[in-house]
Amino acid sequence: MRTPIIAGNWKMNNTMEEGLKLVADIKSQDLNKNVEAVLCVPFTDIKSVKEAIKGTNIKVGAQNMHWEESGAYTGEISPIMLKELEVDYVILGHSERRQYFNETDETVNKKMKSALAHNIKPIICVGETLEERESSKEKEVVKNQIIKGFQDIDEKHVEDIVIAYEPIWAIGTGKTASADDANDMIAFIREIIGQLYGDLKDVIRIQYGGSVKPENVAELMNKSDIDGALVGGASLKADDFVKLINY
Ligand code: 13P
Repeated sequence: MRTPIIAGNWKMNNTMEEGLKLVADIKSQDLNKNVEAVLCVPFTDIKSVKEAIKGTNIKVGAQNMHWEESGAYTGEISPIMLKELEVDYVILGHSERRQYFNETDETVNKKMKSALAHNIKPIICVGETLEERESSKEKEVVKNQIIKGFQDIDEKHVEDIVIAYEPIWAIGTGKTASADDANDMIAFIREIIGQLYGDLKDVIRIQYGGSVKPENVAELMNKSDIDGALVGGASLKADDFVKLINY
């Protein structure tokens, strides 16, 4: 039985003060304890959010990291730095990072290996563009991202990895993939994991991301292969995020 995981990706939003207010509003409400709730926050918010969620089951994630432990990489943050802050998760290969910061399947793979070596659980993002979907290439694209992203990842780590299927055309656009289309792709991703890791395909958790909101979360979560959601916009409003956790 896979534990559902609802993760908020704050992206480049929330100063420390704003973040603390949001966390306080989330914490003040009853949260479904059977759902793992994660807040993936800007680096500058990690310490204060970690402090603020003490005593709750909420986990904290970062939104990126470098694969090296230290060195001449101006502006980067290392796995050791995240571990010192007791970060639980790190988003890797989000489409915004692939699109604006030249993240590739190769760098995602290096980061994934490094995160796992430092006991930080990766949430690895995959997904196709609208153009790729319209030319029926979406499965080929996603398969390639998974195979390259998982290159040389030992099977002992598979249960600690979360995959987020985020079709790029559904991110921040208000257009959600239909629950059937999302489930179909996620079942396909599970099949690829089966080809790579056998029965561990039934253990790995796979989320859907892209305009998830209180109105569509239940339908998505009720599908056979969807284990959670990676949420941008709706994670910035306490009431909406709580509704997602309590779907
Ligand atoms: P939205 O929920 O705002 O569409 O963002 C999805 C996303 O990119 C989460 O990582």
